[in-house]
Amino acid sequence: MKAIQIAIDGPASSGKSTVAKIIAKNLGYTYLDTGAMYRCATYLALKNDLTAQDVSSLLSELAAHPISFGKAADGSQKVFLGDCDVTLAIRQHDVTNNVSWVSALPEIRAELVAQQQRIATKGGIVMDGRDIGTVVLPRAELKIFLIASVEERALRRFKENQEKGIPTDLETLKEEIATRDFKDSNRKVSPLKAADDAITFDTTGVSIDEVVAFISEKANEILDK
Ligand code: DC
Repeated sequence: MKAIQIAIDGPASSGKSTVAKIIAKNLGYTYLDTGAMYRCATYLALKNDLTAQDVSSLLSELAAHPISFGKAADGSQKVFLGDCDVTLAIRQHDVTNNVSWVSALPEIRAELVAQQQRIATKGGIVMDGRDIGTVVLPRAELKIFLIASVEERALRRFKENQEKGIPTDLETLKEEIATRDFKDSNRKVSPLKAADDAITFDTTGVSIDEVVAFISEKANEILDK
């Protein structure tokens, strides 16, 4: 059967990973959370007290502790750096608040983009991030750009954090999301932006099921051609 590439981009907490996981499962495709990869690089930078000046040390750390993904008993995704399970650690505040400077480093992006492109050669894939439609998979058959209001995204992340037992303040979260949007959209290398051929979908007030149905319909149109 024909297998396609689906790129889902958008700002923090726009619902990308939730819908990407469901769509990948429904189609029997690989799901790749590229944000988790930038979070892994950030975790390594913080753990080793590295700054933006220490890019070659950070690349060596990444080579020594390869990023991989696995599945927990409940079906949720697990993230590993070498043998170490960092699933929860990469969602903590210190990582979230430092990921923008790490993901703005061109050498780190080049390395992670190469890893992402290698994974995409293995067949049908749903990848979510900021530059998937523009840089990682420019020839993806389907490109979706999800947006939502800052208020709604902060509330979503607040609930997610509560479920994961990460203490958070909603107002702080709003400020952090707005700051990260600004940094992600204004960095020099691969800024967050919709590809010219992406379909932009505003998920404010729209349920996960409705977003999934919209993207699935578009995917099926391409698969049925
Ligand atoms: O999707 P997320 O919030 O877990 O992503 C964390 C950060 O990683 C995000 O603020 C910007 C960066 N990122 C990126 O620069 N490019 C990607 N393809 C994915 C994420």
